[in-house]
Amino acid sequence: MTVGGRLPRVAVLTGAGISAGSGVPTFRGAGGLWRQYHPQELATPEAFARDPKLVWEFYDWRRQRIAACRPNPAHLTLVEMENILPDFTLVTQNVDGLHTQAGSRRVLLLHGDIWTVRCTACAFRETNRQTPLEPLPPLCPQCGQLLRPDVVWFGEALDSAVFAAARRAFRQADLALVIGTSALVYPAAELPYLTKQAGGQILEFNTERTPLSSLADAVFLGPSEETLPAWWAEYRHQLERTMDRR
Ligand code: APR
Repeated sequence: MTVGGRLPRVAVLTGAGISAGSGVPTFRGAGGLWRQYHPQELATPEAFARDPKLVWEFYDWRRQRIAACRPNPAHLTLVEMENILPDFTLVTQNVDGLHTQAGSRRVLLLHGDIWTVRCTACAFRETNRQTPLEPLPPLCPQCGQLLRPDVVWFGEALDSAVFAAARRAFRQADLALVIGTSALVYPAAELPYLTKQAGGQILEFNTERTPLSSLADAVFLGPSEETLPAWWAEYRHQLERTMDRR
């Protein structure tokens, strides 16, 4: 429970599955976005160059869907963990903003933020929560050129400082929680392996097994909006008992 008398260092990687309980569609599961659309047509720089209006219609539709969604007990559990554990890092692949909306104060956004727009030509960028967006595609108020969603598309690089901070957190973690991700998309999917290589433990929370499951020290099968709060209630109780005995 404690590690050498100190509270454990925890790193968390979340994916679309943690927001499924809030009504946000996932990508690869049943009903997932990539079952209905081809990512190469909607989530690549080439698709945007080819048809910016079509790509913006997809993101505007996702923004409208997400705007109706609220954080669920799994998001709220991670807020509580951040408040209690001195060394806690939350890394997400999600762009829906639900971790921040739940109250998480420090979130490493590996794939960007659907609520931020940035200019394709100048340095303009801002938070924009307008739904629906009008006009489509939106234009930069400073230079008049096209705005784009501030998300990482397939074929684009992650922000190197953000990813370096995420790698550091997983390398140093005693415990890595991997929640609601198919563990298929790199480089994000490499993070839990860093914890294992450094001697830490991996706990996976998912409705089904993934390529990471065989490496995990425990797999909690079920909806994370149920399994994560249940696990944390027990784990926190054991932590408190251990710390009281010191
Ligand atoms: N609780 C826990 N896990 C769930 C739940 C739930 N309620 N519902 C679905 N899942 C699981 C699915 O079993 C699946 O393993 O969540 C995972 C969702 O996987 P994906 O849809 O592939 O989403 P993700 O892993 O976040 O995708 C990674 O791929 O398309 C890109 O940039 C996009 O960030 C995304 C990245």
